Amino acid sequence: MSQQSIESLLKESRVFPPDEEFATRAHVRSFEQYRELYDKSVQDPEGFWMDMARGFHWFSQPRDVLQWDPPDARWFVGGSTNITYNAVDRHAQSLRRNKAAILWEGEFGETRTLTYQQLHREVCLFANVLRKLGVRTGDRVAIYMGMVPEIAVAMLACARIGAVHTVIFGGFAADALRDRVNDAKASIVVTCDGAYRRGQVIPLKSIVDKAVAQCPSVRHVVVYKRTAEPVSMEPGRDHYWHEVVQAVNASSAPLPVDSEQPLFILYTSGTTGKPKGVVHTTGGYMVATAITHKYIFDLHENDTYFCTADVGWITGHSYVVYGPLLNGATVVMYEGAPDYPDRGRLWSICERWGVTIFYTAPTAIRAFMRWGEQWPMKHDLSGLRLLGTVGEPINPEAWMWYQRVIGNGRCPIVDTWWQTETGAVMISPLPGAIPTKPGSVTVPFFGVVPDVVRKDGTSCAPNEGGYLVLKRPWPSMLRTVYGDHDRYVNQYWAEIGGSEGGIYFTGDGARRDEDGYFWIMGRVDDVVNVAGHRLGTAEIESALVAHRAVAEAAVVGRPDEMKGQALCAFVTLRPGNQATPQLKQDLAEQVAKEIGRFARPDVIRFADALPKTRSGKIMRRLLKEIASNGQVTGDTTTLEDLSVVARLTAEPEE
Ligand code: WT7
Repeated sequence: MSQQSIESLLKESRVFPPDEEFATRAHVRSFEQYRELYDKSVQDPEGFWMDMARGFHWFSQPRDVLQWDPPDARWFVGGSTNITYNAVDRHAQSLRRNKAAILWEGEFGETRTLTYQQLHREVCLFANVLRKLGVRTGDRVAIYMGMVPEIAVAMLACARIGAVHTVIFGGFAADALRDRVNDAKASIVVTCDGAYRRGQVIPLKSIVDKAVAQCPSVRHVVVYKRTAEPVSMEPGRDHYWHEVVQAVNASSAPLPVDSEQPLFILYTSGTTGKPKGVVHTTGGYMVATAITHKYIFDLHENDTYFCTADVGWITGHSYVVYGPLLNGATVVMYEGAPDYPDRGRLWSICERWGVTIFYTAPTAIRAFMRWGEQWPMKHDLSGLRLLGTVGEPINPEAWMWYQRVIGNGRCPIVDTWWQTETGAVMISPLPGAIPTKPGSVTVPFFGVVPDVVRKDGTSCAPNEGGYLVLKRPWPSMLRTVYGDHDRYVNQYWAEIGGSEGGIYFTGDGARRDEDGYFWIMGRVDDVVNVAGHRLGTAEIESALVAHRAVAEAAVVGRPDEMKGQALCAFVTLRPGNQATPQLKQDLAEQVAKEIGRFARPDVIRFADALPKTRSGKIMRRLLKEIASNGQVTGDTTTLEDLSVVARLTAEPEE
């Protein structure tokens, strides 16, 4: 949290009250109404959440709303449900049965529509396939696919039979896939032959083959045919989706599961090299994703909702699949790149499908800005009525552009703060009720009690930068880190106020202004946010150090106009290795091979030593400064050898 970023945000003083016409038909129509509901939600959380839970089908009703034994929570205790019954069956049995659940568009322009009734059938079929392949309640199923409707079908099929899905983003390389499958001990991998990206084929199945060769838990691989490129199929282990669904029937009763039954594991980066398997459970996640989606996106029956996130990240889980389907919404799902075949692709999708609600990330908005207004101008975007953003702080300039060019000055913007761990949005405007300020995520959602605190846990004064914490448990909170409950306790709950204090540390810096509005200032730990992807620097460092030429590596983030943050790697070499441009390329390739292309450092700098404390800890703070400004102004008194920094700052980066 630099003074500079605090100051730049403080300069923003524009306020946009909710549009009156929008407010008249919104679910929450005024700040007073928000205030009333919010106050009830924090004064009587049990009453509030029980009311919310009544909107869902429970095979047996919850006895209690919350059992809170910090930092362990159980929500809707004793309730049993099935999230797919609520997300699919309910609608397939109602007037919505022929309503589009998923409007899909492939990169080449082909389209598919899955109504709720059709989705129901697909989910039942695949649930029966999983059963037939021996998947039992609680088993983990890894899903490594492109953006085809079947990725949602596979997730829902798992949930239907009480299996735990772990979706691994299709951009991950074989080693990263292997590590995640092994950590989860998945018995099945569901994949595609390949995925299309900018007209190229990403050979998902052959990446799976490489990974699974080192995954002893995997018994079967199911392959959805998307590209029809030849792939190798191992008899007995590998099965084509279209063949196995032929061999089962389409009736499958949803299994009633306990509210606390794990629904999924989603891996995210942390401050160590080992990815964290964030565990979400059923009942609380169901209620929270659905109601946040309804209120924050002000969803109505005839909306067409388009979220550009990949299903492989939490945004795709909560706001492409679960939240919208639980609400019986129509979701647009796009397979490919936003600039394929041209930079107007997303606007063309919005126009042709009649999108009314559009949700994307600041990094994408900055790319749209750079590409120029001519692209959105070519399309009729008058159907849009609400815009959303998520993933990193949005600079006021990008916010204003989004509002003016995409929203034509008419659409409210919801800047939604949340995390993989929170499962659902925690801080965001409600579009008919909350005046917005460009760059601020505004006020907490119902039941959420955030604060900005100092290291000792005391609350900061208005506009004083500090740590963003959540002071109450919430229904969609993570329950553990898979296989490592200590990490859950230490990482999130012990940092501020001790592990039994019940204060959740987000890892973000923030400030709250004089109106109580929250302004997020980015991560305060060794996690960087590159183009909306959260990356642990330790993970990239360990990929670099795995190269035979590398002795030591330190990776830091620095501000980047397009990507939010860029990755800067400082590398020292083992004796006998030359610092060549070729080696830089090899190291970037090494990261691409071990983690994925999206994690390649933007800059690699060779150094003869890294700045360290006397106890041998790399001083990343100094490296961050060098990477950002080329010089060091911070405290260097604990530095072991000052000349290291002098050499790094003297040398310009190439
Ligand atoms: C981190 C979580 C939650 C979906 C996407 C990312 C940053 C997220 C905002 C926002 C400022 C934001 C935070 C957070 N972040 N939304 N609206 N304004 N920062 O999920 O990979 O779990 O990353 O993204 O730093 O901690 P994630």
